[in-house]
Amino acid sequence: MERILTGDRPTGPLHLGHFVGSLRNRVKLQNQYETFIIVADIQALTTHWETPELIGANVREVALDNVAAGLDPEKTSIFVQSMVPQIAELTVLFGLYTTVSRLKHNPTIKTEAKQYGFTDMTYGFLGYPVSQAADILFCRSDLVPVGEDQLPHVEVTRFVARRFNELYGDVFPEPKAMVSEISRLIGLDGNAKMSKSLGNAIYLKDDPKVIKKKVMSAVTDPARIHKTDPGHPDICTIYAYHKAFNAAEVPEIEECCKKGTIGCVACKKNLMSKLEITLAPIRERRAEYDKPGLIEDILMNGTERAVKAGEETMSMVREAMHTNYWKER
Ligand code: TRP
Repeated sequence: MERILTGDRPTGPLHLGHFVGSLRNRVKLQNQYETFIIVADIQALTTHWETPELIGANVREVALDNVAAGLDPEKTSIFVQSMVPQIAELTVLFGLYTTVSRLKHNPTIKTEAKQYGFTDMTYGFLGYPVSQAADILFCRSDLVPVGEDQLPHVEVTRFVARRFNELYGDVFPEPKAMVSEISRLIGLDGNAKMSKSLGNAIYLKDDPKVIKKKVMSAVTDPARIHKTDPGHPDICTIYAYHKAFNAAEVPEIEECCKKGTIGCVACKKNLMSKLEITLAPIRERRAEYDKPGLIEDILMNGTERAVKAGEETMSMVREAMHTNYWKER
């Protein structure tokens, strides 16, 4: 069976943007691939090193969001990055032949450095794509379902794998990225990206009352003052959400909006009922798994399986790099 590796930074609970960009695909693919889900706590610390306690608290939340979304912990291995030492080991080795200029030109690094106001980047932040390559390659993964902002990191990973194989011999597959049809979800405020730090997100764990408040205050087409004014669905947040959660009715909604025969409030109410179809079962599963010790057990089992896969890879790597000095003893 081919393998999938993907995951999230535990900087907060997961939202609809995560769901549409990657979570939905993971759930769909878990029966066709052996799936590993990383809770990337060390990567989160490359931007939040001053507040490690906040990251620790979210490890549990993110794991819960994954099982709530429908990942079956019997089949998939959900694990904590910092508890798989082979990832740290590979990060050091991959750094031997990955140049600083390759990392400095990574567009996602550039965007995030600007967003966080890093003028003088730390070694750890600049190097996190190398560490992400280790996340993906420690289990010799074949496929990486991600949002489009992650594509530059998968490119680094493909370079790292290819170059390793050229230098030392064939150990790693060159993993492919899989981007979903809707790979980015616009925020409630109309901002290009739904994100926790922008405060424009609907969380998977939000209850219907909170969702109602958020949807009702979401930005629509500012040119529509009266219900009968013709709308411009392509610039409307709610229309974008219909595309992601109510595909079947999209042609009809587009037509009615453009003609001014459906008002924004009715359109929002319709969306909320469709969101509930997705979110109600997620909320129920979350409650089932949110019992003392249960998610910890799931993470412990997943981490054990990840360490086993990592050890298999490391023995191939040590052989290839001639660092298995005392093998015979
Ligand atoms: N960089 C990803 C994000 O910010 C999280 C992540 C860490 C990841 N390691 C990964 C994603 C490996 C895919 C594969 O969301």
